[in-house]
Amino acid sequence: MKTIGVLTSGGDSQGMNAAVYATVRSALARGMTVYGIHHGYKGLIDGEVSRMSAKSVEGIIHRGGTVLGTARCLEMKTPEGQRKAVATLRKYGIEGLVVIGGDGSFQGAKVLSTLYGIKVIGIPGTIDNDLAYTDYTLGFDSAVAVVVNNVNLLRDTMSCNDRTCVVEVMGRDCGDIAMFSALACGAEAVCIPEKEYDPDALVDVIKHNASVGKYDNIIIVAEGIRSDGTLDKGHEADKVVNDILRRLPDLNIRGMVLGHLQRSGDATVYDRRLGIDMGVHAVNCLAEGKTDRVIGIRNDAVFDEDMLTALAKKKQFNDRVYDLANSLAKY
Ligand code: ADP
Ligand code: F6P
Repeated sequence: MKTIGVLTSGGDSQGMNAAVYATVRSALARGMTVYGIHHGYKGLIDGEVSRMSAKSVEGIIHRGGTVLGTARCLEMKTPEGQRKAVATLRKYGIEGLVVIGGDGSFQGAKVLSTLYGIKVIGIPGTIDNDLAYTDYTLGFDSAVAVVVNNVNLLRDTMSCNDRTCVVEVMGRDCGDIAMFSALACGAEAVCIPEKEYDPDALVDVIKHNASVGKYDNIIIVAEGIRSDGTLDKGHEADKVVNDILRRLPDLNIRGMVLGHLQRSGDATVYDRRLGIDMGVHAVNCLAEGKTDRVIGIRNDAVFDEDMLTALAKKKQFNDRVYDLANSLAKY
């Protein structure tokens, strides 16, 4: 393979830049021509393409966001949009495409390969860690670090005011950011979509802690918690605060939403290494003529797997982390 492209798509995540860096540098080292496609599938449709050099990925390994830009693009789901995307690929002679994004982005890649014969390799870039086939996705470790660092800051003021704080974190329908960060910062309680939301249980924790002289609590709530069978993203912190106040009207409590901070700031060393390993692996796959593969990591080893097989997998809930976070939080 002589010419490849790389794009980032969907929600950005730390580690995407490390993957772009490694894709570009390792492809150049193989003598390939590399094009960067800007703003994901939107840029592919609109022809936003630039030739990548070693210099163009200088100094980006650590940076959050993505230097290629990203977008969500409904047009890519239409046959017309897909034809325009393929026309751009043909114009630049791009035979293979590295797509860095989540499962939605992989669906777009699948269309390009199935209907138009483009060779595609997916690298999992999303802070949500919601892809079953891989232990970790790019950005998850960094997002958890942002949550933990911010909760550490919050503790200073919450503890001296004997105050409880409900902290809402991202993750869509996946509770991994919430429960891994709850474990790492010793949160007093955690609510995740995979478990039934029970405000009475939170009140029990707060009452019990008060009975042993502890009046400040951090409660981490995933944005996707379900109550009444509905998903109610974006308002969980307020909702949980109100549910608790209805039961404990005099409680000193606040809510906060960490929001897009979780996708910002430098990538952790883990995400940098993962991005680099995955970028190199993706280029190796293309060089071997492989297509429809996604890159993952399991037991610290990077691998590639058939895209559809990988996407059909159902995520195993990590009981161990959830149980540890809850049991160690007890006073
Ligand atoms: P993520 O990749 O993080 O899961 P999205 O679900 O928003 O994010 O998907 C990113 C983009 O991938 C979409 O905006 C769209 O351009 C493309 N995409 C998603 N699903 C499909 C599909 N079924 N067919 C073609 N393109 C798709
Ligand atoms: O998928 C990554 C993610 O950050 C989710 O955790 C969150 O629900 C969503 O993207 C936010 O999307 P946007 O950046 O479009 O507001």
